[in-house]
Amino acid sequence: MDTLTHTRRELITGMSALGLMVSASASSDPTPTAAPAAAAPAPAFRGAHAPQPLPFDPTKLHGLSEKLLVSHHDNNYVAAIKNLNRLEQELAQVSKDTPAFVVGGLRQSELLYRNSMTFHEAYFGNLGGEGKPSGAIAKALAAAYGSMDIWELHFRSTAASLGGGSGWVILGYELAAGELRTSSGINHTQSMATSLPLLAMDMYEHAYAIDYGAAAAKYIDAFFQNIQWDVVNRRFEQAEKLARLLRA
Ligand SMILES: [Fe+2]
Repeated sequence: MDTLTHTRRELITGMSALGLMVSASASSDPTPTAAPAAAAPAPAFRGAHAPQPLPFDPTKLHGLSEKLLVSHHDNNYVAAIKNLNRLEQELAQVSKDTPAFVVGGLRQSELLYRNSMTFHEAYFGNLGGEGKPSGAIAKALAAAYGSMDIWELHFRSTAASLGGGSGWVILGYELAAGELRTSSGINHTQSMATSLPLLAMDMYEHAYAIDYGAAAAKYIDAFFQNIQWDVVNRRFEQAEKLARLLRA
């Protein structure tokens, strides 16, 4: 938390509690005034994230049903955003007297729900395509891994390693090195710190159990049939621009 912001908030809260803000106003203006409106929460405590709608028609994907996709979006993704919003508002209550274990728990949960929001938006955003790799990202993956097939084998086998468990598989652009890398995490908080997600794959069971039960391999095939590579290419282009700026 920003110390200055925190200190200012405590000062305002303290002044308000003591009636100092009201009396200061009254002393400078003798005419009766309405009570001051409550200050808007600072951005860190606003809790106003809004869920994005599915960016594709959920009846049109290959091998992933409308029931699965809508359940995933409405139950898991939207719940993460509701929890993130509630958490940010809860963080506004933290004071110097709040026990460290309470602050630590809130911080862990904030990271979990924020990354869940980010990865789910990346995931839904990179579905709805025809699964045909093209453009600069295909060339860059072939250069980074030896061939596109080798990259796909690594991405698929990483996904399979999470089948029956849970987690994320991410093709990321590692900004510090300017390189493409595949990584995985068994929860929302384990990702490369300076990596931008280019292609996100949800391996939590809620992403496939409605359609495939425990048969994760069938879901991996369906995922690859629906990758929207145009979106991955746009993200790759943006990541390269950002990396060039950082290295300039
Ligand atoms: Fe999910």
